[in-house]
Amino acid sequence: MSELLWQKAGVRTDERIMRFLAGDDVLLDREFFLHDIAASKAHVEGLARIGIVAAAECAALLAELDLLAEDFRAGRFVLDARHEDGHSAIEARLTERLGDAGRKVHTGRSRNDQVLVATRLWLKQRLAELAACCHAAAGVCLDRAGGEALPMPGYTHLQRAVVSSTALWFAGFAEAFIDDAVRARDTLTWIDANPLGTAAGYGVNLALDRDHTTAALGFTRLQLNPVYAQLSRGKFEIAALDALGAALLDLRRLAWDLSLFTTAEYAFVSLPAQYTTGSSIMPNKRNPDVVELMRASYASVAAARCEIEQLLSLPSGYQRDLQFSKGAIVHGFGRGLAALELLPDLLARLQWNEAAMRAAIEPSMHATDVAIEQAVAGVPFREAYRAAAATAASAGAGRTPEASLAARVSPGAAANLCLPELRERWRRLAP
Ligand code: ARG
Repeated sequence: MSELLWQKAGVRTDERIMRFLAGDDVLLDREFFLHDIAASKAHVEGLARIGIVAAAECAALLAELDLLAEDFRAGRFVLDARHEDGHSAIEARLTERLGDAGRKVHTGRSRNDQVLVATRLWLKQRLAELAACCHAAAGVCLDRAGGEALPMPGYTHLQRAVVSSTALWFAGFAEAFIDDAVRARDTLTWIDANPLGTAAGYGVNLALDRDHTTAALGFTRLQLNPVYAQLSRGKFEIAALDALGAALLDLRRLAWDLSLFTTAEYAFVSLPAQYTTGSSIMPNKRNPDVVELMRASYASVAAARCEIEQLLSLPSGYQRDLQFSKGAIVHGFGRGLAALELLPDLLARLQWNEAAMRAAIEPSMHATDVAIEQAVAGVPFREAYRAAAATAASAGAGRTPEASLAARVSPGAAANLCLPELRERWRRLAP
């Protein structure tokens, strides 16, 4: 490891202890490095605006920061165990290249607000991606809901219940993913506050131009109080993971449906071949592994949330415990977004097996329709219900699934899917 920023004379570093302190921090900081550089540029500009660095120094620092970003992207600069963390690596590089100008860069900032601002920018980007994924999935669901409306069994308790349709199924997930996109957007707005300039958590004796860094980094507002800036670390991460978790909960149930519907016992759905895998021993198998990993991804999001929640049993102010929140968000968002990114294509290409779905519709699944028809004709519903129960086995006589669906006029139901309303909400959400 190169020289530490904070090293005291006469104290020898112990390698084992240093390794424990660093953990995988420097590797994780690769995720946040470009945001750290962007925030460093804004900070340098802010310092120039209050006369702490000269115009020429500012220009040189900005150019070096751009170069560092380029070198990092191209793999010419590798963030590794030579550095304590990404933050020190930036200062070390600027000092190595520019001398005193580099030594000025950390004026009025702390790694505590540096890590906050870098992770905040990262979270905003991930939430925008989450909103886009949910929007795309909802778009495919809307298209497919507006296309074919094949009859299929509707289940409660996994027991055959009433006639349903593929359009109702798709429209249901469309509305779910629209809500999830809204949640992602709202969460992005909620966390869209600039913590840079709060320093170690108590402000500094400098009139930092925080409005400048806020605008330069594209934040909509300042996070004002430095104590609150530290309190928000972890709290905002949890909010972001909750937004992701909402989408992943819907994905988990969708994936469950597909894993059931692709069994020989149901045989309602064929997945695109690319989404299935073979078995190493059983030559006959095609397995829905992708769908299963989509289902499993919620676990990673929940684990990440849980880890951060456990970490937050802390007094106010910066505590090193918070370092572990970075691994959690990288893991949770990595898994969650990877699963959601594949969803639109999977939904666009899955195929329904009409014959199998029709064969699974039993005559008794019309019994609810029969009871409600009688109620409309004036028979008190409970009486009509009893009569329909007694004759449930023959409820389908003279009825078709299509007629059942065509009569389902309650708003949102099969004959009244309200797709224009859903489409309108969807359109307003366009990324
Ligand atoms: N790696 C640290 C973190 O993620 C950076 C901040 C270090 N601050 C400190 N006071 N040691 O929290």
